[in-house]
Amino acid sequence: EKVGFIFDLDGVIVDTAKYHYLAWRKLANELGFEFTKDQNELFKGVSRKRCLEILLDIGNITATQDQFDKWMVEKNVDYLAYIEKMNSSEILPDVAKVLQYLKNKNIPIALGSASKNARPILEKVDLLPYFDSIVDGNSVTKAKPDPEVFLIAADNLGVAANSCVVFEDAVAGIQAANAANMVSIGIGDTEILNEADYNFNDFTEMSDDFLESLIKKQHK
Ligand code: BG6
Ligand code: MG
Repeated sequence: EKVGFIFDLDGVIVDTAKYHYLAWRKLANELGFEFTKDQNELFKGVSRKRCLEILLDIGNITATQDQFDKWMVEKNVDYLAYIEKMNSSEILPDVAKVLQYLKNKNIPIALGSASKNARPILEKVDLLPYFDSIVDGNSVTKAKPDPEVFLIAADNLGVAANSCVVFEDAVAGIQAANAANMVSIGIGDTEILNEADYNFNDFTEMSDDFLESLIKKQHK
């Protein structure tokens, strides 16, 4: 049976969390309150809408629907200005190497991201050609930790869910992969991502032997 590999985007392929942070902080400051890096941790893997709800909670602000919609747009316009300047130098260490390794072996690869900006980001960093399927914030109805995003990706790749491997940096993403019955691999803090089947600080720690063992594995 063939295996499929699914990558989260923000925090796994590129470190866009810092741009999300700067854009949310600007909005918070405009609304008269601080937004810290620690608070930004809560935003990882979480949809734009949910992020704004949490931000307004932090600032104790009640918004009308019009204000809410306006702030969503405003944050994204600021975020897109950062994305505009991105290039392949911002791909996280050894991500391209792992993608190429899988490509050389004809392993199907998908993106499974909550972001509605996934496609332009992959274009900017020149990684679009590696992906056989892109499932992003535009194609899902239920956010991580719901497994929907990864199940659609598996389906698009034509691979059984329990023959898929997921790379994730967010707790909600690891939970989504586990709920989909996929092999979950935490990229980042091992303590925070302790629900993952395997943990790595980044892709530089992942050996070819380990990748090979994942490819050979038939089922979770
Ligand atoms: C996730 C990020 O990948 O995408 C979240 O981890 C972000 O921080 C979410 O809020 C939605 O992103 P976007 O680009 O649609 O605002
Ligand atoms: Mg992420």
